[in-house]
This record gives sequence, structure tokens and C-alpha cells, in this order.
Amino acid sequence: MQVVSGIQPTGNLHLGNYLGAIRNWVRMQDDIGENGECLFFLADLHAISLPHDPVQLKQSTLEMTAALVACGVDPSRSVLFNQAQVPAHAEMQWLLNGTARMGWLNRMTQWKDKSGKNREGQSIALFTYPVLQAADVLLYQATHVPVGDDQKQHLELARDIAQKFNTDFASEDAPVFTLPDPYIPPEAARIMSLRDGTAKMSKSDPSDLSRINLTDDADTIMKKVKKAKTDPEPLPSELEGLEDRAEALNLVSIFASLAGISKEQVLVDYGGQGFGAFKPALGELLTESFAPVTARFRELMQDREALDAILAKGAAKARERSAPTLKAAYEALGLVRG
Ligand code: TYM
Repeated sequence: MQVVSGIQPTGNLHLGNYLGAIRNWVRMQDDIGENGECLFFLADLHAISLPHDPVQLKQSTLEMTAALVACGVDPSRSVLFNQAQVPAHAEMQWLLNGTARMGWLNRMTQWKDKSGKNREGQSIALFTYPVLQAADVLLYQATHVPVGDDQKQHLELARDIAQKFNTDFASEDAPVFTLPDPYIPPEAARIMSLRDGTAKMSKSDPSDLSRINLTDDADTIMKKVKKAKTDPEPLPSELEGLEDRAEALNLVSIFASLAGISKEQVLVDYGGQGFGAFKPALGELLTESFAPVTARFRELMQDREALDAILAKGAAKARERSAPTLKAAYEALGLVRG
């Protein structure tokens, strides 16, 4: 089992990242034992696909490293690094650019969403972003990629690229790449904005009230939950009663996911009650869950050198792990490499 996943070091780590991805990273790390290895990285190369501030990117890379460790990613058991220190990612992307098709990239919903009406004005990096993402996982022969639902299409593309490359340049009994499978938590595949139950919770939403950040204190969490958009109806006692109530469904899903119970069970406990009772309970659960993580995050941020050392050590391992597949890809393509 090779578990590989990444997160962009832009903005704060939020509840969607945590429930959709990071919590599974930690679970997989804790379960993997002798059965394989986990590699987790800061996708700093991806972060330059949109306008960015270089000073801020450096700071965010360290903050996201601290946030991941605070959430339970253990650098002594998992390989934790940032892409920029492992040139194999950029090299492999170039090799895969020969295989990826314009038509495939044109269909990516994230490209469509982020480029909007101004495609001509976007960076080429934003367009080829999913090829770098394919390189990220294929370099390590990833078998499992724990992500939220929004990354599913990018992983399907990674599979298509791997398959075409293997067919075009490798023999059937010695493929260069393993086809990776996404691993998406059913209960928290897509955590929605607290302000709009039809938009996903996201770092780029201009309203901070739309998301819970790892760094929010107890008062802020409670304030955001109380201000979360809902409707005037009480909670139903059956799941069907949440149809067409996107905001209510989102809050129930968050509660279930954090408490480790089913949505049905949340409705058994809170069905018939209004949000005046449910929101404070959810706020408390969030605070309880995040308080130790936030405290650890603040502690880790005191020691910048220790964070640099974690990334340097992880990068050295990642360079080693990626070398054989990178070499195999060069050779398969007939490229003479010194
Ligand atoms: P990013 O940085 O946007 O998000 C990191 C992880 O958090 C998940 N996520 C969510 N899950 C549920 N609900 C939400 N509202 C929510 N928002 C974010 C994302 O699905 C992701 O798993 N392109 C990736 C980073 C990346 C990557 C990779 C991931 C680069 N290379 C290789 C996996 C494998 C991204 O921008 O994620």
C-alpha cells in the first residue's frame, strides 16, 4: 500500500480539509504498519498557478506543515515534505505533458471554475495543474490517495495518463505506473460553506464566516456556528426530511463526522429540536475537537527551525523514493539521461 496525498499551502487549514482529507491521512498512517508507506506533501508548486505573494507562500508552507503535524501527521512515520524540494515532481510533470491531452484538461471542472470567463488570461500552470497532480502520485506508485470529493476528477485523469503512458511506452508485464485509487470519506466527501449550503467550504471564499479554521478560538467557532445559515424548521427525525435543506444537512453531516456517528443517529438524538439547541451542541463539539490541535499548532509555530528540519528530512526521503520511477519514465520515453 502506497498512500500519497497533498494540500496546497494557501490560507488556513479548514474543517473541510480536515474532515475530507487530513483525518484520513492520519488514520491511514496509524493503520498502515508494515503494509506500506504514507507520503504527504505541501503542494507549493501548485500554489503558483494563481497570483500569489512569495513571502506569504513561504510562511503558509511552514504554517501548513505545523497544522498537519498538529492534526497527527507524524514525520517519523510518514514522509512529510514540500514539492519544491523534490525536483522529480516538476520533471515528471514535463514527461507526462507528452501523454496528457488538451481535451482531457479542458474537461476539468476545477479549470472551468477557476478560469471562469477569462481563460485567455490564466496561467498555463492553472491549465496543466492536474498533470502535476498526476506526477505527484504516479512518482511514488501510489495505490491509495485520500482526498475530498472535489479531487476525484483529477485522480481519474491521473489514471488516464498512467494508463495511456503504460500502453504507449511500456510492456504489459512491466508497466511504469500503478493506477491510483481515490479514497474519499463517504460521510465528509464535501463539507459545504456555512453561509451557502450549495458551495463547498473553501480557503478562497472571501467570507471567513463561511468556514471554520483550525486556528479559530472557541469564541470564534461558536460565533460562526451561530451565524451559520439555516432555515426556521426544527431538525427532522429521519434523513429524508433533510432533502432540499442543504444547510441543515451540512451541519448534521459535520456533527456526525466529528462525533464518529451516522447522520441517522444525529437525527435520533436531535430530531424535533430547533437550531437554537443544535448549534450550541455543534459549536461545543467543534471546539472540543479542535482545541488540542490548535494548542499544538501554536506550540509548533514557535520553532521554525524544527519545521524546516522536518521538511528537509522528508524531502530527502521523497527524492530517494521517487528516483526509480522517474528513471523508468525517462528510459521508457527513450530519453538519454546522465
Ligand atoms: P486542497 O489544498 O484544495 O485541499 C486539500 C484536501 O482537502 C480536501 N477538501 C475538502 N474535502 C471535503 N470538503 C471540502 N469542503 C473540502 N475542501 C478541500 C481536498 O479534496 C483535498 O483532499 N489539488 C489538491 C492538492 C494536491 C493533491 C495532489 C491531492 C496536489 N497534488 C496529489 C492529492 C494528490 C488541492 O488543491 O487540494
